[in-house]
Amino acid sequence: MPEIARLILDGKTYELPVLTGTEGEKAVDIRRLREESGYITLDDGYGNTGSCQSAITFIDGDQGILRYRGYDIQELAEHSTFIETAWLLIYGELPTVEQAEGFSALLTEQAMLHTDTLHHFEGFPEHAPPMAILSAMLNVMACQHPELLKIENEAQLLMGSAKIISKVRTIAAFAYRKSKGLPFNDPHPDYKYCGNFLHMMFSIPYHHYEVHPDIERALNLFMILHADHEQNCSTSTVRIVGSARTNLFTSVSAGVCALWGPLHGGANVEVVQMLDEIVKTGKNPREFIERAKDKSSGFKLSGFGHRVYKNFDPRARILKASVEKVLKIVGIRDKSLEVAMQMEDLALKDPYFIERKLYPNVDFYSGILLRAIGIPADMFTVMFAIGRTPGWISNWKELLDQGGRINRPRQIYTGKTLRPYVGREDR
Ligand code: ACO
Repeated sequence: MPEIARLILDGKTYELPVLTGTEGEKAVDIRRLREESGYITLDDGYGNTGSCQSAITFIDGDQGILRYRGYDIQELAEHSTFIETAWLLIYGELPTVEQAEGFSALLTEQAMLHTDTLHHFEGFPEHAPPMAILSAMLNVMACQHPELLKIENEAQLLMGSAKIISKVRTIAAFAYRKSKGLPFNDPHPDYKYCGNFLHMMFSIPYHHYEVHPDIERALNLFMILHADHEQNCSTSTVRIVGSARTNLFTSVSAGVCALWGPLHGGANVEVVQMLDEIVKTGKNPREFIERAKDKSSGFKLSGFGHRVYKNFDPRARILKASVEKVLKIVGIRDKSLEVAMQMEDLALKDPYFIERKLYPNVDFYSGILLRAIGIPADMFTVMFAIGRTPGWISNWKELLDQGGRINRPRQIYTGKTLRPYVGREDR
């Protein structure tokens, strides 16, 4: 017997089907509610709304579980590479040796930017935020590839995905070089994805950057952990834009814009700024905890809390362990890590944080890791964007495969009711 929910409105009973996901999550299907009753449901911020059915990523926020295509994040973090994970997200299965090698070769082939697009970098001011450059350049790619604006077969999907995944890394590195007034480094065909990014960022004329395998591994880990996170703000944005059958480049560009915000991907920068302030001024971390608890301050403890996780964000745990390892390799004692651990300790014992189930999220330790690798704070969010790109692409693909309707929420209108137009002289 299919499960049914009953809703009584104005004395009439409506039967609503109940859907169950493969992990047992339940949803009341209200898709026909308005048509049948005239009512809509209201859920600002979509905290209680399933916007789609998806087979890509599973999160159990109460248990602190994250899985891509059924694989636990901890296992992927230990054994996979970013590129393999990207394939897994987009195509649903881990790649065979042949598929992995083919994809890797395609990404290497696609790493360069078309020379016609390079002059765009000259137009950006020196301090242009890399997220603005990345979103703009993705639309430049849309201009460059009219043959990929409509993806109608597997070959086009593979080429569009490879171009975007490979080139977002080149664009990000070039944005950094531009900000430093340094010449661009062409991607090196001998390097793999993360090593090549480090080379494009840090090699300078006559001084080739030596890619340390453990640092390359740590960057892979960072990217894997950020690769997808079901219907978060930027991914939902990609799906909304994509639902209008907007091309892949522009839909991903919209995801970059959404990610830029400080409540989303921008939080990793805020965390490091806060930790640095504490280290530099010698302020007591407790002061920040108290300020976060005071609603009138408007201050939130960046890197804490999550819409879905009401337990440890598993990504934060993995990152914390990696930070300690990388700091040892590079031989740096970063005091901000000590402050971060102190803050975590204070927050986890504080009733305000306990009652609201506020735990460190992925952004709490990611900035310290990136800084240990040598990546400056203004590049943190763009690093997140590089990592999230396969997730955006896989969600865009899934949406199109499902052939869904254009996304178009409704609203409850609270403005003025009908009134006559007032001539200018009478206002
Ligand atoms: N510091 C202090 N209080 C907090 C924090 C925080 N970081 N996060 C949530 N709260 C409080 C809220 O004020 C609210 O309190 P109330 O019940 O007394 O009103 C309660 O905890 C519930 O939080 P919501 O605001 O309902 O949580 P929501 O799901 O809307 O927001 C968010 C989630 C945006 C992540 C929020 O926790 C936050 O702003 N955190 C800091 C920014 C951050 O780290 N963002 C990165 C998120 S992860 C990511 O995008 C990769």
